[in-house]
Amino acid sequence: MSYVQQIDIGAKYLGLTPEKTIERIGARKKELADRILILGHHYQQDDVYQFADLSGDSLKLSREAAKIIDKEFLIFCGVHFMAEAADILAAERQIVILPHLDAGCPMAEMSTRGAVEAAWPELAQAAKVSQDRIIPVTYVNSSATVKAFVGEHGGSVCTSSNANKVLEWALDSGDLVFFFPDQHLGRNASFQLGLSEDEVVLWKRGEPMGGCSAKELENARVVLWDGYCEVHMRSFPEHVHQWRVQDANATIIVHPECRNEVLRLADLSGSTEMIISAVADGKPGSSWVIGTEINLVHRLARLHPDKTIHSLSESCLCPTMDAVKPANLLWVLDNLAEGRVVNRIQVPPDIARQARKSLDQMLAI
Ligand code: 13P
Ligand code: SF4
Repeated sequence: MSYVQQIDIGAKYLGLTPEKTIERIGARKKELADRILILGHHYQQDDVYQFADLSGDSLKLSREAAKIIDKEFLIFCGVHFMAEAADILAAERQIVILPHLDAGCPMAEMSTRGAVEAAWPELAQAAKVSQDRIIPVTYVNSSATVKAFVGEHGGSVCTSSNANKVLEWALDSGDLVFFFPDQHLGRNASFQLGLSEDEVVLWKRGEPMGGCSAKELENARVVLWDGYCEVHMRSFPEHVHQWRVQDANATIIVHPECRNEVLRLADLSGSTEMIISAVADGKPGSSWVIGTEINLVHRLARLHPDKTIHSLSESCLCPTMDAVKPANLLWVLDNLAEGRVVNRIQVPPDIARQARKSLDQMLAI
């Protein structure tokens, strides 16, 4: 096997019709069936998602994949941090592949290890809390190096489905929680646990003392990194108001990466898995307005023709998730068939060891 990292896939793939590309993926998948496992996140476009052997939210995919140890190659149709998590949890001999190297999560990149490391002692000093009484919590949408920092400092990863539980644990385990990178998930979970507005403080990257006053930090129990998902921030309270008028019977359900003003107006909130099961469990004839990525909303609408399903805001396409096209998947499979591994995602062992601690901590909560 040889290894290649590259973004462009070669002009020959651009000459293939969509139908031919799909046909060839099917044939390659059959040919390599004993050696590969294709994983597809819910936000992947249907032409890619249809080939997934396993689908799910980011954590479910990594956990389930880790149980499948007889496949040599895990092809992760999702974004970079998900492939890293799969590599951390996979067996040593398994190789994780990301079909498009540009498929990153912009929010995950908003908290780098360097920035978090620099903010850590500054926060301790400004909040007058000893560093070992600060508990770091990172959303799974973060790099392996940030997860490693969290592991080294006795903290935990969380996902959109267990953020409240993990935050509760963190609040009980120290004097102050430092939550990154998604301020919205952190704020929504904090308020759902009953914290008041002045107990939840925003740390602004690049500003001295995170732009916080000593007084603000005195009352703080959770300090939020100022990261955000630009896709989920395209949903506004006005959208909820409009849908209440347009379809008064609809249940409005949103992902917790949406801003708190939207969450408070919605009927339900939860991870992609939770949204999928809520809609599946809904009565025939029921009406749903969904605030999350558009590929998932459109798929739900197709899967449930007996229900009325709309997107809270039509503009919520995640461009990096969407970067993975059928041609990228075919390119990966063609290369594997010819003995080349393209776009391997490999977390260095020392980082993987520390990052694993923060993932294991989450699983233990
Ligand atoms: P889930 O873990 O809920 O699938 O969310 C991942 C994500 O990137 C949401 O934007
Ligand atoms: Fe990242 Fe947002 Fe895209 Fe999810 S939807 S992968 S959080 S940018």
